[in-house]
Parts: sequence; structure tokens; C-alpha cells
Amino acid sequence: MKGAPDTIHDILIVGAGLAGMRAAVAAQSDPAGLDVAVISKVHPVRSHSVAAQGGINAALGADDSWEKHAYDTAKGGLWLGDQDAIEAMCREAPDDIRELERMGVIFSRDAQGRIAQRPFGGAGFPRTCYAADRTGHALLHAMYEQLLKRQVFVYEEWYVTALIVEDGACRGVVAWDILNGGLRAIGAKAVILATGGCSRIYLTSTNAVINTGDGMSMAYRAGAPLMDMEFIQFHPTTLKDTGILITEGARGEGGYLLNTLGERFMQRYAPEQMELATRSTVSLAIGTEIAEGRGVDGCILLDLRHLGRERIAERLPQIRQLAVDFAGVDPVESPIPVRPGAHYVMGGIKTSVWGETAVPGLYAAGECACLSIHGANRLGGNSLLETIVFGRRAGKRASEYARSVPPPPGDAGLLQREQARIAGLLKNDGPERPWQVRDELGRVLALHLGLVRKRDKMTEALSLVRTLKTRAERVRLEDHGKAFNTDLVSALELGSLVELAETVVAGALAREESRGAHYRSDFPQRNDASWLRHQLCYRAPDGPRLESAPVTITRFPPA
Ligand code: FUM
Repeated sequence: MKGAPDTIHDILIVGAGLAGMRAAVAAQSDPAGLDVAVISKVHPVRSHSVAAQGGINAALGADDSWEKHAYDTAKGGLWLGDQDAIEAMCREAPDDIRELERMGVIFSRDAQGRIAQRPFGGAGFPRTCYAADRTGHALLHAMYEQLLKRQVFVYEEWYVTALIVEDGACRGVVAWDILNGGLRAIGAKAVILATGGCSRIYLTSTNAVINTGDGMSMAYRAGAPLMDMEFIQFHPTTLKDTGILITEGARGEGGYLLNTLGERFMQRYAPEQMELATRSTVSLAIGTEIAEGRGVDGCILLDLRHLGRERIAERLPQIRQLAVDFAGVDPVESPIPVRPGAHYVMGGIKTSVWGETAVPGLYAAGECACLSIHGANRLGGNSLLETIVFGRRAGKRASEYARSVPPPPGDAGLLQREQARIAGLLKNDGPERPWQVRDELGRVLALHLGLVRKRDKMTEALSLVRTLKTRAERVRLEDHGKAFNTDLVSALELGSLVELAETVVAGALAREESRGAHYRSDFPQRNDASWLRHQLCYRAPDGPRLESAPVTITRFPPA
């Protein structure tokens, strides 16, 4: 294998989910034969991409086109998406799907043997390719096979604590070896962040517990702005109590949403699209039904019974198993109790369409990045697509950059500073454990920044989050050892969560309008005159500093 701990790589990719591995494959294919390595806090196939269920979008159908896909994406995002990025993604999607198939992804097929496509919310055509309801699993394993085939070196179970930035450019990372303990500086000519989202700022979420936004937080600390952090998507259907994702594919296959009166209530909110309206519309409708007393034990019901046992077994086998195992409900016989839950961050590290951040040598792709494709509300099936298209693009552009710069000189004392920080964390004797602060943070966000937001609640949240930020610095670790110290990793992750929560609240307070996933009861209208713009968020001594940035409109004027 190329590369080894303590070496300098041409390209180091942080995160081994779909965006990270796709970037690695692209970089490794560079004709210059670059030394590419991936570093991840979990084994690659435990990355959160594995949990994606419903599918990946591409305009493959004879009557469909990339322009229609782009239009649906821009409209679904309430016109806040940058249309140059949307166009690139939708235009390149069909070739990427074919490439994935060549790599070995087993997509479900239609009766003619073509890649099957199901309808998803906000899409004018059945455009979502899938592998039953385990699409992320199929994609991630195929991509990992590519990594193995290409002998890309993977630092498995290493936690990156900081980016090395010298003379204004990113030149590597400092990382903690989780298995053995110990910090190392790992040099790289270019670093690509592909660390996923941070929906775990909420107490319950469809996300894996590892989704703590480490890459967003370290880029922010290194001076790169985050963008549009106020836009957090609540997926309409997460399982009662646990918040486990119940795929939109269930509605794509024909599932109904019912209230306690047995009504298909979407008739009142989106009579044409019904259950397949965009996520922000469906989530708000469900929230309204529950708030007005037409819910069932804090949920509404997702009814699949009319699909029949056979179709459920073929198209939604995992959903059936999850409902049986975690809610004691067999969807063949009874409706599934579901409610909206935190699912996806539309915001992230601001990048160009090639993954470039504001820091030379630092790239980002996937959910940690914000190009912005999804605007104020992501369409289902576009996030897997984003990882593939923009992972590939970031890998390519980072390779070109790495070919043009000399090897990094060193780490200018960062390693020592990080060593002191970790030693401080290990010695802390504060009254609270990391999970206590994390749980409280999750409750604050759930209570104050849920589906419906309001100034007074958010002002209170900001002050609570700031207190939690201070408390997070003093959490007490009970494991003082080095080997597999998950207590230490939790404390480091907590640092990312509190920092990002502050950016989410600050952005949401400032945006005085309602758009997509950001619904304010005190400003219930969309306001293009004042707010058809992005919010950039810079780290400053007193907390986030917000600036405006224009939205790129190319062919679809906001309607
Ligand atoms: O519902 C789902 O399967 C989720 C898809 C997505 O978030 O893109």
C-alpha cells in the first residue's frame, strides 16, 4: 500500500463516506500517480452514507431531462440554491449513475431490465434510482471495493482534531489515533473534508451518533466561512420514539399519511402532490396535524398495507424489519407511527462547484459542504447524488492543485498545541460528563429550533447554547487512558457540536423570513426582496459573524 502513518501525502481525505471515497477514487485516478490517503474516525463501511435508504436521483427516463431535474431542485430549494452548481450536478448525474453501475452497484431493475426509478417528493418524474431500501449500503460497499482495488491507504479510526494551516494554506491535519492513542501531524499538499453533517446537534435524529460535524467545525476554526447553517431539514417520516429514518421511498411506492381521523390530510396542504410534496411542506403539515390534536401519540400514521406483502418485501424490506424491531409494528398489517425528525443540514462549508473552500489547499464535498445545491430545502435523492458528483469533482480539482504545490514544510507548533489541548481535556475535573452536555444541547435545539421557529425561543436558545459551550470545555472524562478512549472522542465531538449549534441559532435568528426548512411563525412569508441571499458565517471572538452573499441565478428566475 502507498503511504503510511507519519508520511506526507499528496492528498488526504478526511471522512470515508460516499463523498470521501468518491473523492479518493477520483484523486487516485490522476495520471500523475498521486499518493492519496483517507482518514476516518470509523471503519469506512460504518460511515453514515451506509444508512441512506431511498435512492439517488438522475434524469435517465426518455421523457425526463437534466434541465427538468435542475428546475425541480431549484424550485424545491425555494430558489436559494446556486443554479450553476445545480446545473453541474443534474447534467452530470446520468453519467455518474452509469459509472456507479460499472463499479458494481446492484440497482433495482424495472420490468424491461433497466435501472428502476421511483417517484420522490418535489420531483416531476420518477427519477430516483434505488437498491430496494438499502441504496446507501449498496453504493458504499461498491465504493469501498474500489478503494481496496486501488490500494488507497486508509487511516481507520483516527480522529482529526485540527487542520494545519500555514501561510494561509492548508497543509495537512493533526489527528488522534483512537485505537492506540497519541497525536500525529500528517502532512498533505491538499486536504478534502468529507465528514458529513451535524444533525446530531438535535437529541433525536435520523443520523448516526458519529454525525457531529467535525469537518465543518475544523474548517470554521481554520477561517473558512460556513454558509446557510440555519437550514436544517426535518425528514417527514422518522420512526416513533427512536427517530430512525423511514424512507420517503415508502411514500414513493404509494404509502399514505393518515391522521387520527383516518384522513389523508395532505389533501388539505398539497392537493396535487399529496404525500410527495417537498419535505418542508410535508413535515410542516404533519407538525400542524399533531399540534392541532389530530395526531396519534405524538405521531401520524404511514399506511403501507394496500401495497401488499409482496411489494413491501421486494421494495421496502428494511423498512418492514425496522418497524417490527423498533416499534413492534408489522407494516403489512398495521400503519407505522412516524413524525418529522432532524435529518440533513443544507448549510455547510462554503465551496465552489469544484469543492474549493476559502482556504487554499482545503476542499470539501458531501453534506459538510455547501455549494449551495439544496437551497432552503433538499429534495430526497439529491444528497447521495451530491456526494458522488462533487466528491469526484473535489478529488479532481484537489489533484490538479496538489500537482502544482511543493510538499508541506511542517506543522508550525500545532501538534504541540493540540497535545496541550488533549492533555487539558484528560485532566478536566468539571461536574459534568460529555454526554450530559450533549443531551442538554440536543434538547435545547429540539425545543427551541424545531419545525416552527420564533425570535424569543431562539434568543433563549442562543444564550443556552453559549452556556453549554463553556460547560463543554470543562467536561469530566472518566477514562484517562490512551487506547480506545471513546470518552476523549466524545469530548472532542462535543466541541464541534456546540460550536455548530451556535452557528445554526445565530443564522436562524438573523433570517427574518420563512423559506423551506426555516419556518418562522413571527415572519411567516418568504421575503425575496430582503432575503434571497445566502448567509456566510465566520468565526469571531464573540461568536459567529454573519455576512451576506448573492445567490447565483442562471436559467430559472425565482417564482
Ligand atoms: O427518505 C429517504 O430515503 C432519504 C433520502 C434522502 O434523504 O435523500
